[in-house]
Amino acid sequence: MTSKALDTLLKEERTFKPTPNFIKQAIMKDKNIYKQNNKQKFWEGFARELHWFKKWDKILEWTPPNAKWFINGKTNLTFNCIDRHLSTWKRTKAAIIWEGEPGETRTLTYQELHREVCQFANALKSLGIKKGDRITIYLPMIPEAAIAMLACARIGAPHSVVFGGFSSDSLRDRINDSKSKIVITADGGWRKGSIVPLKANTDEALRETPSIEKVIVVKRIGNEISMTKKRDLLWNDIVKTQPYDCEAEEMDSEDLLYLLYTSGTTGKPKGIVHTTGGYMTGVYATTKWIFDIKDSDIFWCSADVGWVTGHSYVVYGPLLNGATTLLYEGAPNYPDNDRFWSIIAKHRVNIFYTAPTAIRSFMKFGKELPQKHDMSSLRLLGTVGEPINPEAWIWYYEAIGRNNCPIVDTWWQTETGHILISPLPGITKLKPGSATIPFPGIDADIVNEKGESVDAGYLVIKSPWPGMLRGIYGDPERYQKQYWSQYKNWYFTGDGAKRDKEGYFWLLGRVDDVMKVSGHRISTMEVESALVDHKVVAEAAVIGKHHDIKENSIVAFVTLKANIKSSTDLTDELKNHVVKKIGSIARPDEILFTAELPKTRSGKIMRRLLRDIAEGRALGDTTTLADSNVVRRFYVEGYTQR
Ligand code: PRX
Repeated sequence: MTSKALDTLLKEERTFKPTPNFIKQAIMKDKNIYKQNNKQKFWEGFARELHWFKKWDKILEWTPPNAKWFINGKTNLTFNCIDRHLSTWKRTKAAIIWEGEPGETRTLTYQELHREVCQFANALKSLGIKKGDRITIYLPMIPEAAIAMLACARIGAPHSVVFGGFSSDSLRDRINDSKSKIVITADGGWRKGSIVPLKANTDEALRETPSIEKVIVVKRIGNEISMTKKRDLLWNDIVKTQPYDCEAEEMDSEDLLYLLYTSGTTGKPKGIVHTTGGYMTGVYATTKWIFDIKDSDIFWCSADVGWVTGHSYVVYGPLLNGATTLLYEGAPNYPDNDRFWSIIAKHRVNIFYTAPTAIRSFMKFGKELPQKHDMSSLRLLGTVGEPINPEAWIWYYEAIGRNNCPIVDTWWQTETGHILISPLPGITKLKPGSATIPFPGIDADIVNEKGESVDAGYLVIKSPWPGMLRGIYGDPERYQKQYWSQYKNWYFTGDGAKRDKEGYFWLLGRVDDVMKVSGHRISTMEVESALVDHKVVAEAAVIGKHHDIKENSIVAFVTLKANIKSSTDLTDELKNHVVKKIGSIARPDEILFTAELPKTRSGKIMRRLLRDIAEGRALGDTTTLADSNVVRRFYVEGYTQR
């Protein structure tokens, strides 16, 4: 965040109290909830509301950095998401409402979802899948994505969902790291009227994925695809003859539920490990209290299932609560810039949860677009993924919420599994730009390098919480180093934060080399590795430059090998190379060619300096620079911008 943005944020003094009408209907309105001091008992209360085949013997075992929750408890997440509701009136209620980008809709009741999930789970079993086998899901936002996840969880086969916008190389690496046996994909998906060639990408990835035995293909588009005999199977073909019921596997509370790859500070994405009982409890609790979710609600979280938000608050959280969750396949601005508002009006959405980047791009189109639609069904709004600037918050509040919907600004991470810092909408006074205070049961603090509580510093979580990651898949050392080496027994989030006089948390963004581009997490090192993979690149340094809408834009400083000349064509080629290696979300916005990169005496690239250069600020302290001429050269010679 730039210092200008920070200044505006911290000068924000407007506050918004919950209205009497909202309080009257809120699930949680008792302020004393923040005073409870037994965090374990607090979480246990939520676990008790769910179904367990066998109750736990003990709530928590904490041997830092390894936590276990609900020891020896046996449960099944899918059973809790679906079967639990089948003996109630909810059996015939809509579990999923889906809208495709071209405009078609499909609604699945809980009973129908049960059947679809069981049939697909049986199909997986018929292919030899057993508890513990990993399955990669590379699908567009179609009901089959949720069905596949729920089927995996039902039989205890951990899923690894890979966002459909990732390239074949990224898919390959994630399949190989997880050693998945099956990949589930589609012939394609719609995005802004174009087909995302998911099957073709999968075929490309599968050239180097020895663990894959079968590919299951959903026919979403009906386009021509190539099918490899014996290996590739159509979803409909393998499902249609399967029985309608499939017993839910009794999972130990600590059995692996899913892996989800996210960017860290190195070039290699890490497989975040989530297990069953604690994750289920944390997601259930936070959905219930933060989104104040009721039986009559239609809940729309606009995230893709390829991200953690899609796991926790598109699929698992709403279904655990027996709510109706809306899935939308396509782009927010297709066919027009008001697509989101037309979806809210058409389906009478009550709770809407999206990212600040989306809000900022809608702001650009003006208030007139939402005003064209009847959005009076909305009762509550939410944001996630990046800090929201007060201006965007206020716009969201006025233009979308009609001054009538609280906004829950929710802070969390892929690693945390569920929301940790957020208002409770029936209790908390809101301040635009602040995620407010930790959820009850969460022990968050802001500390300096010495670990002392301060008003501006690093955000840490001081005791374990149920949905926390249990590790990085196959890499316990990296887990320890990444999150637990900065402070003894406290979880290091990688975020900077400030605390105001009332104890509110103001998140300030990452303090490491992780960028946030349109809410997506991308490591500078990943983009650098992709660039140096190109034959003409000698060296590359990547930074996230402040961007008014996307939070960060990606700027790459590139040194070419001897005798290679920079050109517009080369710029495009390098950008495309990054897209091929990672995916279009990582396409650099700018490439700056330079004769040399500024480094410290120990050889570390001075990213702060590069950021200053990219953002056009005066150069900061350059006294540690090995060759101060390099900086001069940026301005004077060898530096061309494309
Ligand atoms: O920097 C924080 C930012 O997003 C990071 C986590 O990214 P990811 O694992 O992709 O998960 C995003 C969705 C949960 C955090 O380290 N972040 C997330 N929510 C907020 C936020 N920054 C400020 N305010 C938020 N509400």
